[in-house]
Amino acid sequence: MKAEFSNIPNTFKETWPGEFQSFSWQDFLTCIPSVLLVITSYKANGKENACLQSWSTFVGDSGEFICIIGSVSKKGHLYETLKENKCCVLNFPTRDIYKKCEDTIQNNNYDDDEITLSGLTSERAITVNAPRIKECFLNIECEYLWEREHFENSRDVVVALRSKHICMDSAMWDENVQGRFGKDGFMYNIHSSRNPDTGEVTPDCFGAIEKY
Ligand SMILES: Cc1cc2nc3c(=O)[nH]c(=O)nc-3n(C[C@H](O)[C@H](O)[C@H](O)COP(=O)(O)O)c2cc1C
Repeated sequence: MKAEFSNIPNTFKETWPGEFQSFSWQDFLTCIPSVLLVITSYKANGKENACLQSWSTFVGDSGEFICIIGSVSKKGHLYETLKENKCCVLNFPTRDIYKKCEDTIQNNNYDDDEITLSGLTSERAITVNAPRIKECFLNIECEYLWEREHFENSRDVVVALRSKHICMDSAMWDENVQGRFGKDGFMYNIHSSRNPDTGEVTPDCFGAIEKY
């Protein structure tokens, strides 16, 4: 049985103050999973920046591979560095290194080398002026194309990037070795889902793609 939702179900309650201001109740109702990645760049002082991201998508158009980063905070270092350098690297982690990727959120001071401080290895990208995370199985080196606010004065912007170069681990493209999917492949972010009948909350978690 389908149901209609124009307004927040009255069973929905915030699990922390401001949750439905920061995100949307529709996010927690739909729970559309999105791939997890770490975007890396250099800050103006030459230090490594790393920003864990989801809510993004990837499209091929007229022979170009375009990365649409769905929600970049205007207040973060990533936004600042994209403006300054017009480039970055998209790094895709497997779950064995997720904790270190998450540590970049704490190691977020302007003077921090965020990749190195989090126990990961920084290496220079080949085609853009940005660092890559060596341990990630896929790195996409990108140039900045454009940005747009979600709506007037929105907190975050959509950013479009053009891929210039890809570095990928052979174990991932060989489905007989590790492969791209399943529990050792791409990680998906699943925002805490809510049941509109009961209000029950399932905490944030991660998931993997299972092929039909
Ligand atoms: C699972 C997860 C997903 C995240 N996705 C985003 C995102 O899509 N956009 C964003 O601006 N911040 C996102 N964040 C928060 C940033 O990773 C965090 O604020 C980071 O420290 C900002 O880095 P920066 O100052 O280098 O921009 C996410 C955090 C987590 C734990």
